[in-house]
This record gives sequence, C-alpha cells and structure tokens, in this order.
Amino acid sequence: MAEAAMGGYPEHARVTGDGSDASTISAAAPAGVGLRFEVDGEIATVTLDRPDKRNAQTFATWSALARIGETLPEQVRVVVVRGEGPSFSAGIDLRMFTPEGVPGQESFASAAALADTEFEQRIAEAQKGFLWLRRPEIVSIAAVQGHAIGAGFQLALACDLRVVADDVKFCMKEPALGLVPDLTGTKPLADIVGVPRAIEMCLTARTVGAAEAVRLGLAEIAVPASELAQAVEDLAAALLGTDRAAAAATKRLLQAAPGRTLEEQAAAERAEQVVRIRALFGANG
Ligand code: ACO
Repeated sequence: MAEAAMGGYPEHARVTGDGSDASTISAAAPAGVGLRFEVDGEIATVTLDRPDKRNAQTFATWSALARIGETLPEQVRVVVVRGEGPSFSAGIDLRMFTPEGVPGQESFASAAALADTEFEQRIAEAQKGFLWLRRPEIVSIAAVQGHAIGAGFQLALACDLRVVADDVKFCMKEPALGLVPDLTGTKPLADIVGVPRAIEMCLTARTVGAAEAVRLGLAEIAVPASELAQAVEDLAAALLGTDRAAAAATKRLLQAAPGRTLEEQAAAERAEQVVRIRALFGANG
C-alpha cells in the first residue's frame, strides 16, 4: 500500500532531547506525507502538517503513522497528536473518491477491484496507524482545534485522551458519504458516549462542539484555542509525574476493565500488584 509515497526521508523530522536514534525517526516519517515527528525526552509529538489542505489524510499518512508506532523510541511515555493550522484534520483526502485518486496511491476505485481479503488487508494496514496509540506503555493525547472530521475524528478517538480548543468541531461524516468509520473509531466512540448517542451522531453526521464534547466525555478538557498547547504540555507533565511501570500496569487494568467481571478484574489487580510490590520492595526490587 502506498509504497510510492513511502520513499524518501523527512524534511521536517527532528529529534531533540536525550537518547533518540535519528535514523529510526527518519525512517518513520517519509518526506511528502505531511507528517512531522519529534521526540523530546519522554514526549513524542506527531504533527499532521498539511494545513493548506486542512491536514487531509491519505493511505500514506496512515502508513507513516504505523511506522512511527513501530519505531517509537522506548523512552517515550507520552505521545501528542496534533494538527498544524486552523483544523486538526478535515478527514480523508477527498481525491481518494476521484477515479484519479492521490498520485502514487490507491484510490477507492482501484481498491474496489481487489479481492475481499486483499482489500481488507489494505484497511487493516491503515488501521495499524491508529491502533498503536492505545499501547499501555504510552499515554496518547490528541490536541484538537477546529475541524476533526471523519478520519480526523477517528484519529482523535484513537488517542487515550483529548484536549480540545473551544472552536473544535467533531463530525463523523463517513455514513453521509456512503461509508462506515473504519479507522478504529467506532469502538472508542460507542464506549465513550454510549451506543444510542453514537448512532445519533454518526447517522446524522452532525457537528459536536467543545461544550458537548466535554459533557459527553469526548474531551477531557476544553480551553481557549490560544491555550491549547500549554494545556497539553501541562497534562503531559502531570502524566509523567507517575511511576512508569505503575502507569503502564494501571492503564492495562483500566483498558481491560469494561470487558471483565468484577471478580476477573479483582484477580487482574492482584496479579499486577504482586509484580509492583515485588519490584518496589522485593529482594531484587
Ligand atoms: N481532502 C482534500 N482537500 C481538502 C479536504 C479534504 N478532506 N478538506 C479541505 N481540503 C482543502 C480544500 O480543497 C482547500 O484546498 P484549496 O485551497 O486548494 O482549494 C483547502 O483544503 C482549504 O479548505 P477550505 O474548505 O477552503 O477550508 P475551510 O476552513 O473553509 O473549511 C472544512 C474547512 C469545513 C474542513 C472543509 O474544507 C471541508 O468540509 N472539507 C471536507 C471534509 C470532508 O468531507 N472530509 C471527509 C470526511 S469522511 C472521512 O474522513 C473517511
């Protein structure tokens, strides 16, 4: 998928802080994809960087996101996903709906000719760009201003936490375009807002603003647009104040909690705590 767009190395990729391998970072964010990737100590920042096209996403964007996930430096504990310009992301690049598609990449028209398994494999590869943001070892924060439409909304939903500007406009537009949201967004959306509200939001393709997003739990906090970066920085700093191993173990527990019975969850808590207390107080701790 999108191999033609995956060649080359980044013009913007930059590594600051300690201990990162510049060649790893370079390979993760190819030039021309419209993504920037920066590591500063324990914080990595992924920036959608095609503001003139409202950070519209293509197969190449998702491949590059997946590569970032695969090559994320081990020291990283917080990943911030943000968008340059007035909008976080206007979703999928609408050129993918045209017969010509995005140069060097598959269009929907060409993908539609694939066999089912191959077609689903293409979608699975795109989903890889989103799924790594849930890893227990990291906390991912979406910093969202302006429009977050379709794939943009799903990218924000792929993150553990959302900090939004007061001008945010979430919209799940896929059904209005004859598609389903398939970039891993339906589960977090339904988990957060509940199935009835998710049906209402997706099937009307209406816009959800900042106040409603906070009320529904779609955003942890809404701030004036000028304070978005600082609010994200403050949250990242607070998250980094917690012990690394305890944070990962606690995230593992919380992620699994909705799918477990109380007894199962209590057993999982015991198992994680044995490891923690041995690490802190055991003979080899
Ligand atoms: N794909 C490709 N180009 C886009 C996209 C997109 N999704 N969204 C915006 N652009 C481009 C515009 O074509 C325009 O390019 P141009 O300057 O070369 O003409 C530029 O970005 C700026 O767009 P405007 O519409 O002028 O910006 P504005 O801030 O007024 O509006 C908005 C932003 C509301 C996001 C509007 O651009 C829009 O509705 N975009 C399409 C949204 C959409 O339907 N996305 C698909 C969702 S479904 C999915 O993601 C699977």
